[in-house]
Amino acid sequence: MADLDDLREGTDYSGATTTENGFHLKGQSGQDWGLRARLSRVFDPADGKTVMLAFDHGYFQGPTSGLERLDRSILPLVPQADALMCTRGALRTTIPADNGKGIVLRASGGPSVLKELSDEELAVSIDDAVRLDAAALAVQVFVGGENETKSIKNMTTLVDQGQAAGIPVLAVTAVGRDMVRDARYFRLATRISAELGASFVKTYYVEDGFETVTSACPVPIVIAGGKKVEEKEALRVAYRAIQEGAAGVDMGRNVFQSEHPAAMLSAVRGVVHDGLTPDEAFDLFETLSH
Ligand code: R5P
Repeated sequence: MADLDDLREGTDYSGATTTENGFHLKGQSGQDWGLRARLSRVFDPADGKTVMLAFDHGYFQGPTSGLERLDRSILPLVPQADALMCTRGALRTTIPADNGKGIVLRASGGPSVLKELSDEELAVSIDDAVRLDAAALAVQVFVGGENETKSIKNMTTLVDQGQAAGIPVLAVTAVGRDMVRDARYFRLATRISAELGASFVKTYYVEDGFETVTSACPVPIVIAGGKKVEEKEALRVAYRAIQEGAAGVDMGRNVFQSEHPAAMLSAVRGVVHDGLTPDEAFDLFETLSH
């Protein structure tokens, strides 16, 4: 066992990342062809960025606000997303097979909001993921949580299965209610996920030190949108995250709970792919909303 008496927090996160060997995603140039091809269906090869539309919330929340009818709320948004993050149930029942998007398939689940959320198991077989032509598999990791080891085991099992099939794994760092959401915590959670095999990691943006989270993580990071806030604020967070090294956003509630979801998704695309500032993106949102 490693010596725990001298755990020193890292301090040097500076400098540009050297990498890539021609592939557009950090840390992924050594992966097999099929895995890189699938990643290229999630992240646009033109700029290495992604706007993922997340609507997998029903796997533990049921029909939450904005997702009561996936056919009405989500289908109109599909053309504007780079990738869709959803369950296999939503995919088979609601999403047309000719949608042309990278599918990031929710692959863990079990407990509902009525129970201990960290008690997840793997919830999709690799055979079914292949059958669904998944571009990536998403699994929750609860670093520091009650079921930390179990959730990491879920992830490493999925990575083993995914590597064999050429399907990348997205580790979703889930934060328990009593955990501090700071850069130190997210450096720990994202780095553990990458070191143990995730091809990309989803985490939350933090105001102080987010650039150390992205620089210390050897694979791309996408940020979760989090709870619904004013559109301008959500666009500001997306902008800051991209400026500080994120490779995209995986946004749900701040899109589908907006009064103008299509306009919001366009504005988010403007930030992620076109370098719009938050003010420019909000102007775009307002123009499209009217
Ligand atoms: C949560 O674990 C789910 O994976 C959601 O897809 C994720 O939190 C992103 O959605 P939101 O932007 O609503 O936070």
